[in-house]
Amino acid sequence: MGFIEECSSKGFLVSEGVDFSRVNSQDFIKYVLDLKEKPFVINQELIDGFKNNNSFFGKNLPENHSVEVSSPVLRDKGLSRVEVIKSYNLNNKLRSMNDWFDFYLNRFNRMKKLLENRNGLRNATSIASISKMSGKNEVSTIGLVKDIRKTNNGNYMIELEDPTGLINIFVGTSKTELIKQCEDLVLDEVIGVVGSTGTNFLYVSELVFPEVPDNPVKYGPVDEYACFIADTHVGSTDFEPKMFENFTNWLRGGCGTNEQKETAKKVKYLFIIGDLVDGVGVYPSQSSELTIKDIYKQYEVFSDYLKGLPEDMQLIFIPGNHDALRQNEPQPPLFSDIAKPVFELSNAKNLSNPSVVNIGKYSNFNGFNVFLYHGYSYTYYANNVPNLLNVGMDRPEQVGEFLLRKRHLAPTHSSSLITPEMVDPFIIDAVPDILATGHLHKLGYKMYRGINILGTSCFQKMTSYMQKLGHHPTPGFVPLINLKTRNVKIMNFT
Ligand SMILES: [Fe+2]
Ligand SMILES: [Fe+2]
Repeated sequence: MGFIEECSSKGFLVSEGVDFSRVNSQDFIKYVLDLKEKPFVINQELIDGFKNNNSFFGKNLPENHSVEVSSPVLRDKGLSRVEVIKSYNLNNKLRSMNDWFDFYLNRFNRMKKLLENRNGLRNATSIASISKMSGKNEVSTIGLVKDIRKTNNGNYMIELEDPTGLINIFVGTSKTELIKQCEDLVLDEVIGVVGSTGTNFLYVSELVFPEVPDNPVKYGPVDEYACFIADTHVGSTDFEPKMFENFTNWLRGGCGTNEQKETAKKVKYLFIIGDLVDGVGVYPSQSSELTIKDIYKQYEVFSDYLKGLPEDMQLIFIPGNHDALRQNEPQPPLFSDIAKPVFELSNAKNLSNPSVVNIGKYSNFNGFNVFLYHGYSYTYYANNVPNLLNVGMDRPEQVGEFLLRKRHLAPTHSSSLITPEMVDPFIIDAVPDILATGHLHKLGYKMYRGINILGTSCFQKMTSYMQKLGHHPTPGFVPLINLKTRNVKIMNFT
């Protein structure tokens, strides 16, 4: 039975033209029947109310948190479609210790859900229950990594925490594979452990990581491209105006070979993943490295480049740490007053950092989910994880893969400036088809377990600030993902 018939059978009339896509009719009817005042007519407001009350695990979201779930926007005879899956609009609220507690509890419970059906963890027990055991018992548990210590002899002693208590786990050097896995552990990630109880430790025989499943690559029905850029940094003395102009000119069909022009025609989605402008006061003495010192003017100039793009192209923007809003993550969408010209561009969608959208949906194809994150936390992992130390800053795709295995894009508390919003936005609950980031100003991409991992390039040459941070930018290179083949094509605008 369809949505309208199902509602009618319960005595409700459905207004004409309402969008009930992605609404489960039975859940919706239950929601309506639970309302204090039963409506007679089902209108869009009721449906939107239902959508806002049913997110993530079907739990109500706290008052200060809202998630936009919008219907597909059809442009150009239905060729370009963008559906917002997750975008965080936040209210300013005084935070307390309780918010941090709720935030980490939410993280732990969601990560536990991802782990508890894994081999070896089906009988996972709480840390408190293990602590009460005497003698040697084979057990498994799930915990958050509170502390990692490597002894002079090369053994690992790890402190794990769950809502019931703390436990020390031990990995001896004889377990070569496990020691290798310990090298990749980071603080505050949630893992599973199988082992045997002892006097002071749980002796580990297996570590279980959330990891993404090895899904087959999904192919879309239409030969079309999603294009990804970030870090334009308009306003900076190091912004590369000619490269950006060449890029936008190519998108309009104004330059390139015939083949390149044909490619441009197939670009249906343009993602701009943060640091649209250089901002003002982002780092000490930045003003001496700005050609435009007015933040309003920076967004105006940025938007001027993107005017007049083809009508069938959808533009999706998220902010980065240089944009004019709070640096703490999740960052809400750009402010519509400061970045007004960005909102005025045709087909523009402004979303939070991070956010998730679905693109390329057709009647017989459910589209691709794209996880968008500016990438602030990547610097931390590139500089702190032994196996990433030599490559991380230059290989965003390696950092992306590392974090996908954790099912979390910023597990360590200090790796990004997090504000506790109850719902941890960095958990990869639903596995995306594309993970796209910026921030490192370095192009990198790979296919990993059916996911296009993509680190975008930039339109800014090396600044003194970036030199200090160890960035090696590759401005002017733009990756495109062909949604039919999932191949990545690189366009060079240098
Ligand atoms: Fe940047
Ligand atoms: Fe950035």
